[in-house]
Amino acid sequence: MKSLLTSVSLLTGLMLVLASGLPAIAETTYPLDDMEPDLRDTASLQRGARTFINYCMGCHSLKYQRYVRTANDLGIPVDLMLEHLVFDPDTRIGALMENNLTVEDAKQWFGSVPPDLTLYTKLKGGPEYLYTYMRVFYEDVSRPLGVNNLLFENVGMPHPLLELQGLQRKVCKDIPRLAANGGEMRDPLSGETVTERACGEQLVERGYRPLKLIEGSGSLSPGDYDQLIYDLTNFLYYTADPSRLERERMGVYVLLFLAFFFLFAWLLGREYGKQSH
Ligand code: HEC
Repeated sequence: MKSLLTSVSLLTGLMLVLASGLPAIAETTYPLDDMEPDLRDTASLQRGARTFINYCMGCHSLKYQRYVRTANDLGIPVDLMLEHLVFDPDTRIGALMENNLTVEDAKQWFGSVPPDLTLYTKLKGGPEYLYTYMRVFYEDVSRPLGVNNLLFENVGMPHPLLELQGLQRKVCKDIPRLAANGGEMRDPLSGETVTERACGEQLVERGYRPLKLIEGSGSLSPGDYDQLIYDLTNFLYYTADPSRLERERMGVYVLLFLAFFFLFAWLLGREYGKQSH
């Protein structure tokens, strides 16, 4: 009986370990770009909140997050929050960050309902997914909204930051041809790299992005746009777990206490040990 119990608990443990290591399911095989959130960067979180409220909240709610919590956690004075980031004068600072888009309207306008984004970075592919998704919209005249997305084919969402990023087009690129040994092929006479024309999937497999920005079509430089999306993702990483920083801070104290307590418990144990002999 005992050995049965041990093997059951071992098996459960093994399953837990396996499950925690499994990657989240993604829709396309497009590789995600790296993104390291930083919850200590309050300025980044504030900029992210501003971008979200200005450009996303018309369609996407944050229904598990309150304005007041956001203001307090991000160091935004409540009166400034009310003045600049709460647009409806009837909305109280303690209200949830919801919008007025109804399911019927959304279905009629976009063919699908914009999901609530409070927990999005936890539920789907992590912050890297959102960070990549917001940077791979491209022109596609066959789609009703004129754009498509490399990560989410045939997405029903318009590109909300088009005027900032500008329009990207799917292109083919000349990339170095690979030799049989896996290295880049060079012309034996001139020593120059031999290139080949690659498109779509082929480019992605070789680590190139099959998109090109139409020069001057956006008001931000590519670097500034990446920063904007970094901040936005950082903010949505925060909303998915607002007490993460606090918890981590507390964890350090708990471990320190345990280390301290261990010493005294051990000393006490030693005294008891002496008496019983
Ligand atoms: C005009 C309305 C509209 C705006 C503005 C908008 N979205 Fe969306 N969004 C949608 C719709 C509709 C969908 C659902 C798309 C679908 O299911 O095809 C969606 C889906 C998404 C998804 C989910 C994709 C998935 O994995 O299911 C994310 C993430 C997202 N939007 C982020 C944003 C962000 C960030 C902003 C602001 C910069 C934003 N959206 C602005 C309408 C909008």
